[in-house]
Amino acid sequence: MIDKELQKENVGIKATKLIKDGQVVGLGTGSTTQYFIKHLGKRIQEEELDIIGIPTSYQSLITAKDVGIKTGTLDEYDIDIAVDGADEIDSNMDLIKGGGAAHTLEKLIDSAAKEFIVIIDESKSVEKLGRFPVPIEIIPEALRIVKKTLTDINGFPELRMGINKDGPVITDNGNFILDTKFEEINNPKELESILNSIPGVLENGIFAGIVDQAIIGQENDIKTKYNENREIYS
Ligand code: A5P
Repeated sequence: MIDKELQKENVGIKATKLIKDGQVVGLGTGSTTQYFIKHLGKRIQEEELDIIGIPTSYQSLITAKDVGIKTGTLDEYDIDIAVDGADEIDSNMDLIKGGGAAHTLEKLIDSAAKEFIVIIDESKSVEKLGRFPVPIEIIPEALRIVKKTLTDINGFPELRMGINKDGPVITDNGNFILDTKFEEINNPKELESILNSIPGVLENGIFAGIVDQAIIGQENDIKTKYNENREIYS
């Protein structure tokens, strides 16, 4: 199999070609999107483009600034196009995201964008979502009670722990993450809304029905899939 890292860079480069001068661009989080942001910065410098980036995390904000992309917020701008990675994608183009604990702002920005493009290497494609646990951002005060509720609905929640930091991961919003496995996810849209209706939950990592286009790395190629059920603005 072609190097996964190379697939990530290739899809990142491909996505930069979709960006037009004057656009406001949602900047996703994660290792794949990092390639997109870096190559977008390069294009902006080389072609003197006027682009505003709307970061979905401190990671994307810092990288955007490093590579000279002007940034703004959702409060100031409407987003033309968002480009983001994913942890899993199924055949309906529903996603699990949040492996980097950034899914709350990612969902806000990706779903607010007129067009949402997901970029992934081929290892992320699955028949059915759920091999990857669903990241659920909760306010710290809700830990015990939300864990119990998730267990009652047949989930297996685990508090995400820090690496090179003692104790739990603290998100960019100051919260905890419960990585939650479910035996089966038969209806992602329904589970997404059930999880968000639990008091104390801020946002979960199921992104159902919002992808317009998926750019998927392949061994010797890149595959592009369009979601026919979504209206694409030009
Ligand atoms: C960040 O919280 C995530 O949603 C990432 O977008 C997702 O985990 C994909 O990351 P990689 O591109 O690093 O696999």
